[in-house]
Amino acid sequence: VFVTQMAAEDGSHLWLRLPANAHAEISAPRQSPTLNIAVEELQQAWKGAPVRLVIQKDKQLQAEGFRIRHEDNKITLTSPTETGLLYAAYHLLRMQETGQNVVEAQTTENPAYNLRILNHWDNMDRTVERGYAGQSLWNWEELPNTLSDRYKEYARANASIGINGTVLNNVNASPKILSAEYLQKVKALADIFRPYGLRVYLSVNFASPMALDSLSTADPLDKEVIRWWKNKVKEIYRIIPDFGGFLVKANSEGQPGPCDFGRTHAEGANMLADALKPYKGIVMWRAFVYSPSDADRAKQAYLEFEPLDGQFRNNVIVQVKNGPIDFQPREPYSPLFGAMQHTPLMAEFQVTQEYLGHSNHLAYLAPMWKEFFEFVAPASLKAVAGVANIGTDANWCGHTFAQANWYAFGRLAWQPSLSSGNIADEWLKQTFGSQPSDINAQLKKMMLDSHEAVVNYMMPLGLHHIFAWGHHYGPEPWCSIPGARPDWLPSYYHRADKQGIGFDRSSKGSNAVAQYPETLAKQYDNIDTCPEEYLLWFHHVPWSHRMKSGRSLWDELCHHYDNGVRQVRDFQKIWDAAEKYIDAERFHEVQSKLKIQARDAVWWKDACLLYFQEFSGMPIPYEIERPI
Ligand code: GCU
Repeated sequence: VFVTQMAAEDGSHLWLRLPANAHAEISAPRQSPTLNIAVEELQQAWKGAPVRLVIQKDKQLQAEGFRIRHEDNKITLTSPTETGLLYAAYHLLRMQETGQNVVEAQTTENPAYNLRILNHWDNMDRTVERGYAGQSLWNWEELPNTLSDRYKEYARANASIGINGTVLNNVNASPKILSAEYLQKVKALADIFRPYGLRVYLSVNFASPMALDSLSTADPLDKEVIRWWKNKVKEIYRIIPDFGGFLVKANSEGQPGPCDFGRTHAEGANMLADALKPYKGIVMWRAFVYSPSDADRAKQAYLEFEPLDGQFRNNVIVQVKNGPIDFQPREPYSPLFGAMQHTPLMAEFQVTQEYLGHSNHLAYLAPMWKEFFEFVAPASLKAVAGVANIGTDANWCGHTFAQANWYAFGRLAWQPSLSSGNIADEWLKQTFGSQPSDINAQLKKMMLDSHEAVVNYMMPLGLHHIFAWGHHYGPEPWCSIPGARPDWLPSYYHRADKQGIGFDRSSKGSNAVAQYPETLAKQYDNIDTCPEEYLLWFHHVPWSHRMKSGRSLWDELCHHYDNGVRQVRDFQKIWDAAEKYIDAERFHEVQSKLKIQARDAVWWKDACLLYFQEFSGMPIPYEIERPI
């Protein structure tokens, strides 16, 4: 089902297709690596009035915040920091490229979070876990002596949308990343990223002291272990003075952690936090934990972490995936948000489309992330992280429209109150230039509908994790592997039988609903008030259950799958109608991917309906396209 990657040279510019040779008049208070970038970008691409960059403290501006003012035919960019001025420069250019009125512009911008960070799941051998855009950007073999041009382009793209941190390596971390040899390679990247305001962080393996220096234990309370980490951190900061800190996946899916030594997650995180504290480094400790047990998997992270609330050092942030299971096409939010009032929390989103058709399917994810923020107040979080979808492919992300997810992640991390539509609009205009407004409106509609379309043809009405074993691309609700962990099999999640389908997480079932705040818990607990998009997440529902549409659950399921297929076919028509306005290369790339997506949507519909029909025993309604 995979096409070979076509060279999409034109896609390599991402959303930064700025004019060259504009010769704008720009002044800055001084020369510095960061200010020089801001000045050069504006000199080349800014077509308006002279611009003055001013470093100035201002009560209304946070460190990276900025103000843009237009007065007497002069534009003044103000920020307390150089990075803030760089962001202001990119913002001004964004306004120009998206056709906003700069003359009347009086913009004040502050980031919602101080930490807006990408997580690369990149391995040292350049494979990328759940990566669908070629190899890892980091060429560890060649580093630190040979430096790819892409490193700078990567930093520039991030700076243009306000991303200010990057975790270079996979959470399933190789201890090797902390070796003296690799730290020099990391330093080379950090040096390139620094002028762009982008800090480097590393994922660390909790058993590194054992793997790298043959310590007999990695027990976080052991003196030798504590000393080892202190020395390692000192070594890192000697090489990279502005190093950001560690990301840790511990006691999860086979990774080592403090629980191996009878210690808690808090004890493990705090030991690392103490080592980093003198240098202002932080620990991002992941709450993605579950094990084969009697407890519903959706409940496990909460059961393990909620009792630790208040026990973490203040330079630890607990990083929680948006939903309680694992980046499914749709999940309710993770109830850990809101439950740990005394612990800084950050949300982890997945930009790479592990469960959303990889880089073959067009799925614009801003609406999904906005859905999360409807439940979790942005102000209750300390930071946001996004699992990157970036690789060596000429177009960076495998699918031109997947670039929009990198873009949207950055924009929402800067300001979650931005709308999905505005972000799509910005991205379209910068990526494809200005289109006739009806074409632009159609492309935007396609983007805005695309996530729901994927939910429809993959897992509507709260279904989840019915993916094929391992690769998580196609459907395999029937999957059975003798001896496999039950919670790794789709039947654990869909629970289809003659009576109905869905996971009973109500008070009569696993009672996962009780982890939510009372009003929501009540709403989700009752089959009649539970929102239909979460119905089969929280309830085992009889096939004949009456849905809001008046249809039976079975008929409704058929309609959702069928709708998903139709939606993708509409996307194909919308895209074809844009042919005249898009360069041939990107046009054909997206067109062929949409063909794959349309075929896959039919595959999902047919596979799931024919399989579930064995349980429902009900006919597929005639208005639904017959399965092949
Ligand atoms: C998912 C994913 C893994 C990843 C894990 C994680 O389970 O399939 O590849 O390692 O999440 O987030 O740690």
